[in-house]
Amino acid sequence: QHSGSRKIDPFKLAQNDLDNLYTDIKEELKNEMPELEQISTYYFDGQGKAIRPLIVILIARAINFHMTGNSDLLNSQKRVALIIEMIHTASLIHDDVIDSADTRRGKPSVNVLWGQKKSIFAGDFVISKGSQMLARLNNPIVISTLSEAIVDLVLGEFMQMGSKKEEKERFSHYIQKTFKKTASLIAYTCKAVTYLATADDELQKAAFEYGKNLGIAFQLVDDMLDFVSSQAELGKPAANDLKLGLATAPVLFACEKFPELNEMIIRRFSEPGDVEKTYDAVMKSDGLNHTRMLAQQHADEAARHISNLRDTPEKQALLTLCDMVLNRKK
Ligand code: FPP
Ligand code: MG
Ligand code: MG
Repeated sequence: QHSGSRKIDPFKLAQNDLDNLYTDIKEELKNEMPELEQISTYYFDGQGKAIRPLIVILIARAINFHMTGNSDLLNSQKRVALIIEMIHTASLIHDDVIDSADTRRGKPSVNVLWGQKKSIFAGDFVISKGSQMLARLNNPIVISTLSEAIVDLVLGEFMQMGSKKEEKERFSHYIQKTFKKTASLIAYTCKAVTYLATADDELQKAAFEYGKNLGIAFQLVDDMLDFVSSQAELGKPAANDLKLGLATAPVLFACEKFPELNEMIIRRFSEPGDVEKTYDAVMKSDGLNHTRMLAQQHADEAARHISNLRDTPEKQALLTLCDMVLNRKK
């Protein structure tokens, strides 16, 4: 790997293609009900990292180098980048209701400002508008590919509500949930924009596997940061997963050293002191290190899958993202 050229700033490289992202999304969400418009555009304030659209644009451009591309191609791929941000944000709006979140990205969450019912409608509205845009692309394969990811979001979120009684089933359940909840959307979208460019199965698989592994690495780091970052850094409450009853990778690894965590995992940390005891056990175990190593493996795997792509700044930026995901603090 060329460490010199890996310094390419992915955000700068894709900036031109992402400049109008939020303006365009807000344009799509215009409607005759001012309050619905206000709630559904609330998270499109430019404070998000737009990491998903960024990845989609970079994969698209890296793949397009293999084709005799046209500007129409990149334009449809940009539409897909916009749609993925809408699907993602719709899921966050619902997620904040489900998690009873107080804040997101340092500001009050939708449910705090408008209550659960209106927030759910806003999430429904954003996903419907995103689906409408998707349909307008008029490409059945792209529609079914992204629909698969929407189904997975729901399945992943639902899986997270149940905990496995059997300790040995727990880890595969967690990884499967992580794929569906976090990685599926970026994986299928990377595949869809590649499909727009080429019928080459190998390239489609490379794009899918890149997105899948980067997505899983991203969530593993997220689950780690939930333990080590403060509320101020995250813009959302820390150690929140335990409070929500969720046993993520650091806890599952800690459980190997402290089997007494088992019963607390099963009762989803619902008794007084469970959250604190588990937090301390995680800190005393090597659960966080272990989680970081697993994230590293997935990031390496993501990089490996695009290693055969033509060497372009876009490819280097995609490799840089593999490092950035591991080193991020929020
Ligand atoms: C954030 O997780 C949540 C998701 C990535 C997916 C949420 C999916 C749904 C609510 C179901 C599908 C809904 C639609 C509209 C398709 P988190 O709670 O771990 O992250 P956070 O810390 O950012 O809140
Ligand atoms: Mg949440
Ligand atoms: Mg959640």
